[in-house]
Amino acid sequence: MTGSITLQQGAAGARILGLGAYRPRRRVTNDELAQTMETSDEWIQSRVGIAERRWASEDESLVDMAVAAGGKALAASGLTPGDVDLVVVASASLRAPIPGIGPQVAYKLGIPRPGAFDLNAGCAGFCYALGVAADSIRTGSARNALVVGVERLTDVTDLTDRSTAVIFADGAGAAVIGAADEPGIGPVVWGSDGDQHNAIEIAAGSSTMTMAGQAVYRWATTKLTATLEEAMAAAGVGPADIDVFAPHQANLRIVESMTRRLGFGERTVVARDIVQSGNTSAASVPLALTALLESGEARSGDLALVLGYGAGLTFAGQVFRLP
Ligand SMILES: CC(C)(COP(=O)(O)OP(=O)(O)OC[C@H]1O[C@@H](n2cnc3c(N)ncnc32)[C@H](O)[C@@H]1OP(=O)(O)O)[C@@H](O)C(=O)NCCC(=O)NCCS
Repeated sequence: MTGSITLQQGAAGARILGLGAYRPRRRVTNDELAQTMETSDEWIQSRVGIAERRWASEDESLVDMAVAAGGKALAASGLTPGDVDLVVVASASLRAPIPGIGPQVAYKLGIPRPGAFDLNAGCAGFCYALGVAADSIRTGSARNALVVGVERLTDVTDLTDRSTAVIFADGAGAAVIGAADEPGIGPVVWGSDGDQHNAIEIAAGSSTMTMAGQAVYRWATTKLTATLEEAMAAAGVGPADIDVFAPHQANLRIVESMTRRLGFGERTVVARDIVQSGNTSAASVPLALTALLESGEARSGDLALVLGYGAGLTFAGQVFRLP
């Protein structure tokens, strides 16, 4: 045996340098849906908390939306495309899995030959991707990374099925991650419960998603508070330190249940972007955060606790400082 493997030195920590989002142009209200299916604004608002959502048009493809959100995150970060050497695109709504869209998103943003790939961890995709990107920077595999969560769930939803059509929506959110002497992103706490792999699925031979809503609701409200507590403990902070709580926007009642159980301080701002955006899966966490920053409810330097969860069933959470 000859030679020995050497490891490169990574950064002490990673931090988010910029966030960006893209919301499709078309707003779809509950009343509009009630014209084509047996549902009502009252049912949707009281059971799920959604008032309206955005549905992408033909000219708002996954790549288009990812590039739009990624471009805004890059501009906000102050980096140039040439500074980025890793692109991770989280999505669960690619209609054709080959090729993945990561390389094309990078190319369209002018990022020269980065490591680029897609990641499918359902609605937990953005938080998984953020964990991978932050760890890549810490180990020296990347200097700066672009992470995108993008979905066109309307492509994989039966828009006449009231059990899913009123919930799922489209959009994109992105973050640019760079090195930091003082860590700005805490350790990711991730996991999966594969025994419930078919609770949210596109069954073989079908092109649209089904969801065992009550089973997922029970799982989300009973199993995931512990993950949020672990994510805070891993980062060395507690509920009183959290300025912004932005869990996956799947159901407003789940957001409220988690918020009650965690016992945050008075000042903690809770993301309720589901009201305007519906469930945008891997895009929901960055969409919710950018909305709070744009409205001024969240501020640069705030400490955020996030959690993604969904198909798989997968979950991932972490604490980070907002750019
Ligand atoms: C999907 C979800 C909103 C459904 O709410 P729910 O309170 O569980 O509702 P149910 O599925 O039990 O349905 C209750 C009734 O409302 C009806 N219903 C379902 N969708 C409806 C709609 N859009 N409008 C009106 N009625 C509807 C059902 O047919 C059912 O009628 P029945 O009692 O006559 O059989 C809820 O279960 C949920 O949010 N689950 C978690 C989803 C999630 O977290 N996903 C994670 C990642 S994607």
